[in-house]
Amino acid sequence: MAAVTTLLEAISGTGRDPVRGGYTRPVFSTAETDLRSWFTAEAVARGLGVETDRNGILWAWWGEPQKGALVTGSHLDSVPGGGAFDGPLGIAAALAAVDVLKERGVQRNRSLAITVFPEEEGSRFGVACLGSRLLTGAIDPDRARNLRDDGGTTFADAARAAGLDPEHIGRDEDALARIGDFVELHVAQGRGLGEDGPAVAGGSSILGHGRWKLTVQGQGNHAGTTLMEDREDPMVAAAQIITAVQQAAAALPGARATVGRIQAVPGGTNVIASRVELWLDARHEEDALTAQLVETIHGKAQKIAAFEGCSVTLAQESFSPTATFDPGLQRQLQLALPQAPVLATGAGHDAGILAGQVPAGMVFVRNPSGISHSPQEYVEDADADYSAQALADVLEGLL
Ligand code: GLV
Ligand code: MN
Ligand code: MN
Repeated sequence: MAAVTTLLEAISGTGRDPVRGGYTRPVFSTAETDLRSWFTAEAVARGLGVETDRNGILWAWWGEPQKGALVTGSHLDSVPGGGAFDGPLGIAAALAAVDVLKERGVQRNRSLAITVFPEEEGSRFGVACLGSRLLTGAIDPDRARNLRDDGGTTFADAARAAGLDPEHIGRDEDALARIGDFVELHVAQGRGLGEDGPAVAGGSSILGHGRWKLTVQGQGNHAGTTLMEDREDPMVAAAQIITAVQQAAAALPGARATVGRIQAVPGGTNVIASRVELWLDARHEEDALTAQLVETIHGKAQKIAAFEGCSVTLAQESFSPTATFDPGLQRQLQLALPQAPVLATGAGHDAGILAGQVPAGMVFVRNPSGISHSPQEYVEDADADYSAQALADVLEGLL
C-alpha cells in the first residue's frame, strides 16, 4: 500500500508559493493541472479508469462506471498561500484506501469512484465549490461561464483552455445518478479534535455560509494636493466597514464574519482610491440569521460610506445553506469508526453541496493546532497514514 505521506510527498513541490508561503494552486493553473495529471497517473497505476465529466470533475473508477456507485473524493485546488492538506489529504487517502481495500481482498457489490472537484475554494473565480455546484445545478451555467478571475479571464475561457467545452457545463443527471453515496475525507479545520483526541471524527453538518462583494465608490484624487476635508476616500470608509463587520458578527452569537480580501482601485501609494472592493464571508447555523447579519452590515456600511462622502453597493456572490449529512451514512460511519466523535464544521466542502441531492458524509482527520487556510496547517504523519485505513474501513462497510 502506498502511504498517504508518500503520496503527499510526491506533490509537495507543486504549487509552492514563494511569496505567501504554503501553496497557491488555483483551479486550471499549471499547479492544479499538474496535480490532476499526478492524480490520473496514480489512478491509472492502480488500474482505475479515469474520465473527466463535462464540469471538469475527474472520476477514477474501480469497476465499471455505474449508477449508484460509492464515491469518495475531495479537491486539489487551494486558497492563496494554503496548507498542504486541505483537499489533497482526501485525494491521497482515497488512492491509498483503494490499495488497502485491494490488499484486504474486499469483494465489491458496486463500483467505487474517486472524484476530484475543481474550484472547491473559489479562490480563482469567487464561487466556492463551483464544480459540485455545476454538477448539481446549484449555479446557473451562464453565470458560471461569465465569472472572471482577477486577470479578467472568464471561467468559460479558462475551462476551454483546460480542454472542456464551456457550452456543456451545468447539471449532469447521469453523473449525479452515479453517486449512490458520497464520503469526503478532509483535514480538520478547527480545534474540534484537539491535540490529544482521536485521530478521526465523523461529520454531522456544515455551517451555512456565503460570500458578498461590497463596492465602495469615492472620488479618486491626488494624495498631496487634496485637503483632508475635501476627500471622498473609499479606503477610509472601507476601514470602518471592516470594523463594523467584526462588531456585527461579535454581537450575534454563533456568527462568523470575515473580510479577507480587499482591493483599492487604482491602488497607488500617492493616489486617493476611486473605488475599493472588499469581500465578506459570513456564516451562521441559521440561514435567516446569516441574512440578517449581512443586512445589518449593509446598513452600517451605507451610513459609514455616506459620512465619508462615498456610496456602497453589496452583491451576493454565493450562498450555501447549513447542510446536514445523511443520518444513515452517519450511522455507517459510526459503525466503521466506533471511537470517532461526531463533529459539525464551519468550513465549506463539496460534500455539503452534494448533501442536498445524494447521501453524503464526511470524515475529519486531526489537525493538532486546528489552523487551516494557512501554511501552518498540519497533520501528523501517523494520522495521515492512518486516514487511509479509516477511510477504507468506512468504504468497506458501504461497498
Ligand atoms: C472552504 O474551505 C471554506 O470553508 O470556505
Ligand atoms: Mn477543502
Ligand atoms: Mn479550504
